[in-house]
Amino acid sequence: MTPSSAGNEPTDPVVARAAGDVVTAAPISFHGVGRAFGTGDAARLVLRDIDLEVAAGEIVAILGPSGCGKSTLLRIAGGLDTPSDGVVAIDGTVVAPFDARSAVGFQEPRLLPWRTIAGNVALGLPRGTARGAGRTHVSRLLELVGLADFAGHRPREVSGGMAQRASLARALARNPAVLLLDEPFGALDALTRLKMQDLLLDVHAAEPTTVLLVTHDVDEALQLADRVILLGNDEDRPGARIQQTIVVPGTRPRDRGSAELAELRGRLLDGLGIDRHGAARGVPTTTTIPHYPY
Ligand SMILES: Nc1ncnc2c1ncn2[C@@H]1O[C@H](COP(=O)(O)OP(=O)(O)OP(=O)(O)O)[C@@H](O)[C@H]1O
Ligand SMILES: [Mg+2]
Repeated sequence: MTPSSAGNEPTDPVVARAAGDVVTAAPISFHGVGRAFGTGDAARLVLRDIDLEVAAGEIVAILGPSGCGKSTLLRIAGGLDTPSDGVVAIDGTVVAPFDARSAVGFQEPRLLPWRTIAGNVALGLPRGTARGAGRTHVSRLLELVGLADFAGHRPREVSGGMAQRASLARALARNPAVLLLDEPFGALDALTRLKMQDLLLDVHAAEPTTVLLVTHDVDEALQLADRVILLGNDEDRPGARIQQTIVVPGTRPRDRGSAELAELRGRLLDGLGIDRHGAARGVPTTTTIPHYPY
């Protein structure tokens, strides 16, 4: 981890980065992680026995049925929630509450409506960032996500895809060693989503951070990730665990129509318990996991 040069940073061992720091991706590890909610008779185990090592700069996608604990796992990784069991560490140091080494991006952009796009991105800057350095960093990020011409616009004046790009830039403004994305493109139309996937790969090439990406979209996972983790519950025990780990072959950008990816798509859909219908006959199928209302 690169120590902050911003000066007035907190004295805890987890030191935020400064705007000018070079992004250094860090490994993140999960050892025996479990999470139960509630106490006594009302206790409910959501996650159990999660063991996962993500290398610095790796992109790992997390798939699983709705409600299985994907967001919970991501929140634990970012220090927004605490595991009931086990340990999560970034670069060998246990994740702290609201750990400054990671940044989280959500399905909705969560921009402040009264701030400009640039002002919203600036909210992600590490505490204590000098004004000039911050402005330069924000401009560079807006350039990176194709929003340089919209710096002065308010969120209501831009499209959903643009707002989501601003949200990504805000997350990157922290120079995160680990970028945690929770269905970041889930609310976008199909075409915009494909463009955002390409953008994420461009961003990852320019700012090679470690990425944990929760998605409902099997194709998105296979397109973007080095590895895909499938979370799910066993029938006989509560608590989701890692059911499958798939190493995605080939270098990015991948051919969306390749036979190799089609085979992996089939395995993942089977793992998710999704009926593939026409897939066996070569009929294109929709591979986004439906959202169940529970
Ligand atoms: N703070 C909380 N208190 C109690 N239960 C919680 C809390 N946070 C999450 N849960 C429960 O944990 C389970 C997993 O939730 P989580 O949001 O992690 O699922 P998910 O896999 O992200 O689902 P989705 O795909 O629908 O986003 C759910 O049953 C949810 O109700
Ligand atoms: Mg979720």
